[in-house]
Amino acid sequence: MSFTRPRQEGNAGSRRDGADRENGADGANGRSTEELTERTGLMSRGAAQRDGHAGGNGRVDREKLKRGAAEVPISVVGWLDERAGMSPTLRAMLYRKVPKGTNWFYTLGSATMFAFVSQAVTGIFLAMYYDPSPVKAYESIGHITNEVFAGELVRGMHRWGSTVMVLLIFMHMARTFFFGAYKYPRELNWLVGVVLLVLTLAMGFTGYLLPFDQRSYWATVVGVNIQTSAPFIGPYVADFLRAGPDFTATTLTRFYSLHMLLIPGLIGGLIGAHLYLVMRHGTTAPPWLRAEKKPELAREEI
Ligand code: HEM
Repeated sequence: MSFTRPRQEGNAGSRRDGADRENGADGANGRSTEELTERTGLMSRGAAQRDGHAGGNGRVDREKLKRGAAEVPISVVGWLDERAGMSPTLRAMLYRKVPKGTNWFYTLGSATMFAFVSQAVTGIFLAMYYDPSPVKAYESIGHITNEVFAGELVRGMHRWGSTVMVLLIFMHMARTFFFGAYKYPRELNWLVGVVLLVLTLAMGFTGYLLPFDQRSYWATVVGVNIQTSAPFIGPYVADFLRAGPDFTATTLTRFYSLHMLLIPGLIGGLIGAHLYLVMRHGTTAPPWLRAEKKPELAREEI
């Protein structure tokens, strides 16, 4: 990908417009066709032979072609970058150094992120057909599974995806733990990770009620009752989840809004913070790679 800045020659071009037109130039950008071909290295076979640029065999000078292509403001990315100025950030992100010995275990974080994105996309499609009212919820799930085009597939992806995401997040956490990545200066990122873990589990818990069949209803009743027994804040959190002392129609809509708005929003924001911290500190080298011992650095100076 190239993020080369387009040349800023607009003004110079307009000053030269008149002269160029007299010489049969392309009035739109103030450069003659000859000049543009010359700049980009895109010479016609005849012109190349005439000017002797490619040894008379009609082949284009590749170096010149590359230089020219980099200069011509043709790419949409270039247009965007000129306005958004994102290329330094993207470059720093994509070309950052990674430690020697980086291996497949380091892909678990990105895999978790991919699982989250997949959950978000499939969830959006499910939300188009799901009805979060106690009377219609179960029915709408049946409609998605049996009647909506690819509904069973999308629902299956979302259902299994939640399990996959939980597995991946635990594997990623284990990797960072066993590689000692929770130590200084990455403690804050570990803490952000812990919140992400709790939120991911909360996604699973709130989503489980949504089909509103016997199993999901009673499993949630049990889950919320367990929550009630947590010290101090337990009963308050349980009341908040139920939207009162009892399970009512509002409980379902509350779970729905937590499941599709609040928790994914928090996860998205925290993933941003998590990745920022990964970029800031870099990734930890595998523990079996020790730093070279340099005697001059080991000497103690008072
Ligand atoms: C939605 C959940 C999560 C996502 C999307 C995510 C994503 C990532 C990514 C992409 C990386 C960089 C690549 C890698 O090392 O795998 C990373 C690094 C890290 N993650 Fe996560 N993560 C999540 C959850 C967690 C959890 C639950 C913990 C721990 C409690 C955690 C702790 C860390 C730490 C300490 C690093 C730095 C690793 C290092 O320096 O080598 N993350 N995370």
